[in-house]
Amino acid sequence: MTTADPHPATPSEPRSETRELASELAHLAVRIAQGAGEVVRSGRSEAVAGGSGFATETKSSASDLVTAVDKASERYIVAQLRAARPGDGLRGEEGTDEAGTTGVRWVIDPIDGTVNFVLGLPHYSVSIAAQLDGTTIAACVLDGASGDFYWAALGGGAWRRDVRLHGPRSVPVAEMVVGTGFTYQAHERARQGEVLAAVLPEIANLRRLGSAALDLCLVAAGQLDAFYEFGINEWDVAAGLLVAKEAGVALSGLRGRPAAAPFVAAAGPAHAAGFFALLERAGADLVP
Ligand code: IPD
Ligand code: CA
Repeated sequence: MTTADPHPATPSEPRSETRELASELAHLAVRIAQGAGEVVRSGRSEAVAGGSGFATETKSSASDLVTAVDKASERYIVAQLRAARPGDGLRGEEGTDEAGTTGVRWVIDPIDGTVNFVLGLPHYSVSIAAQLDGTTIAACVLDGASGDFYWAALGGGAWRRDVRLHGPRSVPVAEMVVGTGFTYQAHERARQGEVLAAVLPEIANLRRLGSAALDLCLVAAGQLDAFYEFGINEWDVAAGLLVAKEAGVALSGLRGRPAAAPFVAAAGPAHAAGFFALLERAGADLVP
């Protein structure tokens, strides 16, 4: 079975109706992400004011957390999308899974970086992407702590608020500051540690910030030189990948595969081939 690439590297110029739809859906994604950002901010303030911290539940392992705020954010986003665009498909991290009838499908991470959110570390986000017939055409990633938002519409560039983004500086692999992340499964993290031992001496240094959606936007904004992660889900990266692609960032799933769950890699175009080759040698995509 071949995997469809939701972010083709050399897309044909989108047709004008697709561009119009992409722009309309991107504006909707921004508006709803901002509303969800309010749900997330007020949820955090109430829990902190209450002094009891967050009641957390666990999902795939003891370190994979979910809070009532994640669920409230997803409920808000889904309600807004249903009202604005009845008939669209919906997929969310906290369980939403509805087939649609319009060809448009929304991919939602109500809080990406839940562990940071619980700990009060300021790197978590709301991530909303719209796909048309399997291709991501609109995206918004809202930084939950600062309120900054990153957005993109297919063919229309990548933006932080109203500032256009152009990807990372052009530095060789040895000078790259690289973002990554680790899964919630201990045996996979053990293997990821071995991959890291091979990668780390070949790059300038590493950051593990804790929200894959936001990390990809930092590559788009030139605040990270590159990013890779195994074990991500489509909702972690659907929006961030479009923002990165529209900023001119090169994307790969390694070994001829597209950048898509469960593995994505991203780097500035000038030195991406060398970075992706390093990741292939290290087996960064071969974790299980
Ligand atoms: C996680 C974050 C983290 C990444 C994990 C994701 P969550 O999402 O994106 O940076 O390393 O792979 O699962 O669980 O906070 O929504
Ligand atoms: Ca996530």
